[in-house]
Amino acid sequence: MGKATQNLKKEHETILFVLKILDKMIQETHIDGSEKRRYRHELVEFLKTFADKCHHGKEETHLFKALEEKGVRKEGGPIGVMLGEHDQGRRDILQMTFALIAADVESFNEAAARYRDLLTAHIDKENNVLFAIADQVLDEAQQAALYDKFQEHEETVIGHGVHERLHEQVKTWAQAYGVSDEHAPVE
Ligand SMILES: [Fe+2]
Ligand SMILES: [Fe+2]
Repeated sequence: MGKATQNLKKEHETILFVLKILDKMIQETHIDGSEKRRYRHELVEFLKTFADKCHHGKEETHLFKALEEKGVRKEGGPIGVMLGEHDQGRRDILQMTFALIAADVESFNEAAARYRDLLTAHIDKENNVLFAIADQVLDEAQQAALYDKFQEHEETVIGHGVHERLHEQVKTWAQAYGVSDEHAPVE
């Protein structure tokens, strides 16, 4: 696997781990205590910052563009499908945000369950189809160049300090919801 696709795949593992926590969260039909409320706010912030701005940002701004240049189709092809799913995810995150403001647990859980299913299937398609295409059409030097752009994107979008804070938050939620943190790889 190339350097750039490997980086994205590693982020997928982090996102999948957070989805496991989200899955536990939405089994609660009411929220007791201010901590649990705060964890939901923090987790939505994580999805906005890490999953969307950082991860989907790397894919949309850099990977998909590089693949298009190699002739991988956007409209009616795999890139178009991936972009459509990123947009659906943004709508779900928006619903979760509004639901938190309105303290509407039911609406939050509904959007969160949809997001969990969407992203799980999305990541599976990227890992097994899109990244396989990327590894075929991009050579080692192009993967390395993409990886450098990813690093730059990461610094610009979230920065090192925020990354550290997210890592700590993921560990705290994992403990609170009883999800084993052995695979909590935010780096
Ligand atoms: Fe994606
Ligand atoms: Fe992805």
